[in-house]
Amino acid sequence: MARKKIIAGNWKMNMTPSEAVELVNTLKPLVANDEVDVVFCVPAIDIIPVMEAAKGSNIQVGAENMYFEEKGAYTGEISPAMLTDVGVKYVILGHSERREYFGETNEDINKKMHKAFEHGITPIMCCGETLTQREQGVTMDFIRQQVKVGFLGITAEQAKTAVIAYEPIWAIGTGKTATTEQAQEVCADIRKCIAEIYDEATAEAIRIQYGGSVNAGTAADLFAQADIDGGLVGGAALKPDFGKIVNYK
Ligand code: PGA
Repeated sequence: MARKKIIAGNWKMNMTPSEAVELVNTLKPLVANDEVDVVFCVPAIDIIPVMEAAKGSNIQVGAENMYFEEKGAYTGEISPAMLTDVGVKYVILGHSERREYFGETNEDINKKMHKAFEHGITPIMCCGETLTQREQGVTMDFIRQQVKVGFLGITAEQAKTAVIAYEPIWAIGTGKTATTEQAQEVCADIRKCIAEIYDEATAEAIRIQYGGSVNAGTAADLFAQADIDGGLVGGAALKPDFGKIVNYK
């Protein structure tokens, strides 16, 4: 069965709740496309207003992060149950900015993966190499480690429903998109890695996005690749351009 494309916006730390509502109202008609899954991953405080504003549209709402404990003395964190209580279906886990600025490790991300599945939230697990790693030829060694530890103890049935976002760090927010060939090559290798951990059926089912300076001009070529099942979009998800990305065909 063909994999349904999933195109997600990652708003990062942008948009106050009122700006968020305005943006959703602008984008709602532009992202109407039932052939793909459209997800807006937004700051925690924007989740409820964005849900309200998106009602009746094809927009699904996701979070940008969550903690791996159920509840308790974890000041400043958001629990999985807080997300599911308001209907959140997706969560970005292990974005490179979380890894770099907030010290998240592969082990933390693995714990979050388990929690997400336990609560019926689909993880969008990010992985990707730095420019130095690419230049040193260790891109896949590094990504394999991220994927293998990230998926430790996750069952094949769960993995089938997961989303992996391949985001080369050197391409994030830099305007430097990976070439279509580079992106396809790594996404194919990630799928191979999933086949090794699990089996062919799991590798065929899991969705793998490309992220890193995706824009209206690059989306069509990227998403036409055999192993690229959509994108995780930062900057361009905050503009009407996101409509063009969602309707890339
Ligand atoms: P960008 O961000 O599209 O602005 O490069 C992508 C991301 O970090 O998810």
